[in-house]
Amino acid sequence: MALTSPPTKFVAGNWKMNGLASALREATAVSEALKATPVQSRVALFPPAPLIWRMAQALADGPVEIGAQDSHREDCGAYTGDVSAEMLHDAGARLVILGHSERRTLHRESDQLIAGKVLGALRAGLEPIICVGEQREQRRMGHANRVVRDQLEGSLPDALTGQPFSIAYEPIWAIGSGETPSVADIEDTHATIQEALSAIFGGGAATPILYGGSVKPENAAEILQIAGVDGVLVGGASLAADTFLPIIRAAG
Ligand code: PGA
Repeated sequence: MALTSPPTKFVAGNWKMNGLASALREATAVSEALKATPVQSRVALFPPAPLIWRMAQALADGPVEIGAQDSHREDCGAYTGDVSAEMLHDAGARLVILGHSERRTLHRESDQLIAGKVLGALRAGLEPIICVGEQREQRRMGHANRVVRDQLEGSLPDALTGQPFSIAYEPIWAIGSGETPSVADIEDTHATIQEALSAIFGGGAATPILYGGSVKPENAAEILQIAGVDGVLVGGASLAADTFLPIIRAAG
């Protein structure tokens, strides 16, 4: 069953572990520019957790939504150093990135753990963006689509049925490297993701499928025009208004 694409693009900016209070001016500059010249697209920023509350205050009533970069699967408890989805929601986040490859690799997060985090996010009212993506060698061996399908099957709990969420396809070798897959490969993997979502959830809902990995002002328009690309998840280029705004404008 064919899924319909969402009518508007979704541009998400992941600041990763970057940004002190002084960086809030970049977020404010994005918000003010979009207030002055609005776009159709949905725009969200994902600052590090300590900035969420201040960014939510600074951008209140503006068009930019705020999200977190990760959340714990439990609502509260003896988990020193961790932050729950409920706490992030309380601080002003409305979305959360889960299963980013840096979490999967550096923190050894499994599909099963990510599925548990998705449940925690849904309980707290956070809309998840769930990331999937293959390693360079897996792409080279022709296994990229199988890897991504397996990640989707393992990381998406049934409870997502009927809930708003997005998928971000982020080839690990493209993140922060300046390299991107070919247009044909992005189109092919996005189609695989759409088919997998249809098989898991029965089709119907339009789940946005974002591309992420070295998206810049120079390549954003080309990537956003690829069939099946419903938006972009931007890392490095989302840190400054000067580079994030042209990407948002490219999405329209
Ligand atoms: P990048 O990061 O745009 O810096 O490659 C993308 C991401 O990891 O979400």
